[in-house]
Amino acid sequence: MQIEQIKQQLNSVKGQWLVTGAAGFIGSNLVETLLKLDQQVTGLDNFSTGFQHNLDAVEATVTPGQWQRFSFIKGDICDPSTCESACVNQDYVLHQAALGSVPRSVEDPLTTNANNITGFLNMLVAARNAKVRRFVYAASSSTYGDHPGLPKREDEIGKPLSPYAVTKYVNELYADVFASTYGFKTVGLRYFNVFGRRQDPRGAYAAVIPLWFASLIKEEEVFINGDGETSRDFCYIDNTVQANLLAALAPDEDAVNRVYNVAFGERTTLNQLFSMIRDRVMERYPNIAGVQPVYRDFRPGDVRHSLADISRAKNLLGYDPQFSVAQGLDLAAEWYMENLSR
Ligand SMILES: NC(=O)c1ccc[n+]([C@@H]2O[C@H](COP(=O)([O-])OP(=O)(O)OC[C@H]3O[C@@H](n4cnc5c(N)ncnc54)[C@H](O)[C@@H]3O)[C@@H](O)[C@H]2O)c1
Repeated sequence: MQIEQIKQQLNSVKGQWLVTGAAGFIGSNLVETLLKLDQQVTGLDNFSTGFQHNLDAVEATVTPGQWQRFSFIKGDICDPSTCESACVNQDYVLHQAALGSVPRSVEDPLTTNANNITGFLNMLVAARNAKVRRFVYAASSSTYGDHPGLPKREDEIGKPLSPYAVTKYVNELYADVFASTYGFKTVGLRYFNVFGRRQDPRGAYAAVIPLWFASLIKEEEVFINGDGETSRDFCYIDNTVQANLLAALAPDEDAVNRVYNVAFGERTTLNQLFSMIRDRVMERYPNIAGVQPVYRDFRPGDVRHSLADISRAKNLLGYDPQFSVAQGLDLAAEWYMENLSR
């Protein structure tokens, strides 16, 4: 089914959605889209890396009537009873809550494990007990680990290179076992470097795109780990939101109980990314024209290249990413210049 058909379907049928990690980057964008489609949405978040200001920003973009359809639970997925009560009466769960970041997991594997594996399992059990129709969860491209193949195809994975990657792979294994053991319906979305509005530029574990926008806007140094020829398949947030809606509502039974790459399907090196971001920031701040990045050591746990084969999501879900990296960066630039002034 195509995304426009899905949106039409949602116009006539109102669903009840639980979005975990609702105060985070991807979660808050899912909440925003669902509310704009007049859905009933419950958000669950413990604010460990998410923010009230992300929810406030969503409130500011929807109508008062749409905002009334939103309820929020401040709670932790590490607590099984919180997960149980959040799942009651939900039709769909979009599970985003987790501790992201490879370096964070290298420094503190126990906390990443507790949130990403125990928390995930709590949510899976609660969603199964509540008989939700479908459980869509944030998987990760880090699952490809040391597999050298490019582009990455869902069935060809290597060994994980970080504790974070282990947690995301374990999520897939649990989802698979819940399908075979309990007949539970899940879809895993392996996100590839998602970026866009509300992605946090602060802190030691900030992702590269928000970090570089912030550094260039504030005239701070930009560091590149390695020689800059490391590449990623950067995916604009609206493509990711589309994949979630399609995964939740795909009518084809063959589409369920699978994992999918969610990316744009294009490879950008860090050197190219730096130029693209600098060009956009320069439009407002011409004085940064000559700024060059500072190169430093490669980071442990990082994979060298990443590029997704997105044909499975295209064929089985009708995924049709609308925003290229360049288009996404235009929109992200607007947002960061608006929200991170000098
Ligand atoms: N952003 C990416 O490029 C990317 C890539 C691959 C996978 N992912 C996955 O996508 C999901 C969302 O990532 P994001 O980029 O929006 O990160 P984010 O940090 O902005 O959002 C995660 C949210 O989950 C919440 N959370 C964390 N632990 C929780 C807990 N124990 N209980 C309740 N809430 C909790 C945080 O407070 C935060 O609001 C994560 O599962 C992440 O691993 C993201």
